[in-house]
Amino acid sequence: MPTPQNHQAVVVLDFGGQYAQLIARRVRDLKVYCEIKPYHTPPQELARYQGVIFTGGPGSVYAPDAPLCSPELFQLGLPVLGICYGAQVMAHLLGGKVQSAGAPEFGKTGTSFVSSSPLFSQVPDSVTWMSHNDAVGQLPEGFSACASSAGCPVAAMENREKKLYAVQFHPEVAHTEYGNQMLKNFLYDVCGCAGDWEMGSFAQEAVEALRERIGGKKVLCALSGGVDSSVAAMLVHRAIGKNLTCIFVDHGLLRKGEGGLVERVFRQEFDMNIIRVNAAERFLGKLAGVTEPERKRKIIGEEFIRVFEEESSKLGKMDFLCQGTIYPDVVESGTGQAAVIKSHHNVGGLPEDIGFEGLVEPLRDLFKDEVRRVGIELGIPEALVWRQPFPGPGLAVRIIGEVTQERAATLQEADAIFREEVAKCGLDREIGQYFAVLTGVKSVGVMGDGRSYGETIALRAVNTSDFMTADWVHLPYELLGTVSNRIVNEVSGVTRVVYDITSKPPATIEWE
Ligand code: XMP
Repeated sequence: MPTPQNHQAVVVLDFGGQYAQLIARRVRDLKVYCEIKPYHTPPQELARYQGVIFTGGPGSVYAPDAPLCSPELFQLGLPVLGICYGAQVMAHLLGGKVQSAGAPEFGKTGTSFVSSSPLFSQVPDSVTWMSHNDAVGQLPEGFSACASSAGCPVAAMENREKKLYAVQFHPEVAHTEYGNQMLKNFLYDVCGCAGDWEMGSFAQEAVEALRERIGGKKVLCALSGGVDSSVAAMLVHRAIGKNLTCIFVDHGLLRKGEGGLVERVFRQEFDMNIIRVNAAERFLGKLAGVTEPERKRKIIGEEFIRVFEEESSKLGKMDFLCQGTIYPDVVESGTGQAAVIKSHHNVGGLPEDIGFEGLVEPLRDLFKDEVRRVGIELGIPEALVWRQPFPGPGLAVRIIGEVTQERAATLQEADAIFREEVAKCGLDREIGQYFAVLTGVKSVGVMGDGRSYGETIALRAVNTSDFMTADWVHLPYELLGTVSNRIVNEVSGVTRVVYDITSKPPATIEWE
C-alpha cells in the first residue's frame, strides 16, 4: 500500500491516555505522517521514525504495573516529546523524581514559557490545558525547566542537546492556545520534518501502489454509500478501472434518495462497474413480525451476507476483496495486522473466507477526516463525502417495533424533512449526527375538526468525538418548530413530533 514507507514519520507511543488518536491527527494535520504504537514497542522498531511522542495515561509511574517504555529508547538519539503522564515517564526513567503536585490541576491554566526554548518559539505566555495529579518534582540530570504555572513549577522541561522535551499540559487539545504551534515546533524544528504528508499525493501514490499490487487481477467491493467504502472503491477504480466490481446491496432501509444517489454517482459519473441489488422485499420479508432490536440486527446482517455471496458467486473468480477499513479500526484492533471486520462498522461483517487471495484496504492508514480529503481530491460529490454516519442495519434500528414498508416510508419522509431543514440553517456540517426515529408510540391528535390517532416521530441530534459519548445538540427552537410543522403536515400518519434530549451515556445514539 502507499504509505508511510515513502514518507517521513513520527510515532506516538500510547501509554493509555484518551488522546493518542487526537495527537496523531494533529500531527498529520501538520503534514507529518504519524503512527500509533503501544508503549512497550521494542526501541529497535522505532529507529525509522523522525521523532517520538509519548501520550498521557491514567496511572502513576510508581504504580507496580505502571506502563513504562524501555529506557533504551532514549539512546536512539531520537527527539522525544513527552505529554502529561508521558512527561513523567521521561523524568522517571532518566533519573528525575515525580511527585504529587500538591493541588491537582485540571482545566485551563495560565502558563509562562521560556521563549528561547525551541519548543516554545513564537509561543507567548498563555493558557494551557492541564489534567494531572502528579508532576515532575526533580529534574533529571541535563534538563532544565522551560515552562511553569502557579501550581506546577515544571510545566515543561527540556534537554536541548539530546532533543528531549516534556510538557505536563496537553498541547493536542484545542484549549491549549498555542498547542498547535508547539507541536509544529517539535515536528519541524526539533525533529527536522519537512511536511511531506498531503492527501493529493497520497491519492496518487495509493493509485500507483494499487495498480502494482493488483496488476490484471479482479477486485470485488461491497459499496454501502458510506464515505469509507466510497473512497476505497474510487481509489481502486482509478487504479484498475473495470476490473473492479462493486456490489451495492439496497436493503430498502436507506434514507430517502440515498440508493439513487449512490448509483447515479458511481455508475453514471464515474462509469464504475456497479451491481445494485434491490433486495428490499427480501429483507422486509425476513423482518416481518420481528420487533426485538438485536434480532433485527442479526437478520439484516445475515441476510446481507447471503445476498452478497449470491451476487458475487455469479461473477466468476474474484481475486481480492476491497474494504474501507480505516486507521482507528486498525488501532482499536490492537494488532495493526488483522483484517478488521467489525459487525458494528460494516453491515453484518463480510465473509472472510469466500476464497479471496487477499484484502485490499487502501485507507487503513488514514483517519476519517483524511479519508474525506482524499474523497474530495478524487472528485466524489460532497453529499457522499460529508455523509453522516449511518448504521449498517439502516432505518431498521430507527423504527421501533415492526419494520414494514409503510413505516419505513413514513420514517424516510420525516427524516428527509429534518435533514433538509437542518441544511437550510447551515447546521448540516456542524452536527455530528441527526436523524428521525419512528418511536412506535401512537398518540391522539386533532386535525381539521376531527380526531386523529397516529405515529410519533422523535428527532435526535448529537455531537460526539468518539461515538462512546455524545451530547444532545441544542437545536434552535425555530428550526425544531419548522421541522415539527412540516412533518405533521406533510407526512401522513404522523400526529406528533418530540425532541430527544438525552446524552450518551445513559442513552445510546441510536434508539435500538
Ligand atoms: P450507539 O447507538 O451504539 O451508536 O450509540 C454509536 C454509533 O454507531 C452507529 N451504529 C452503527 N454503525 N453498524 C454501523 O455501521 C451498526 O450496526 C451500528 N449501530 C450503531 C450509530 O449510528 C452511531 O454513529
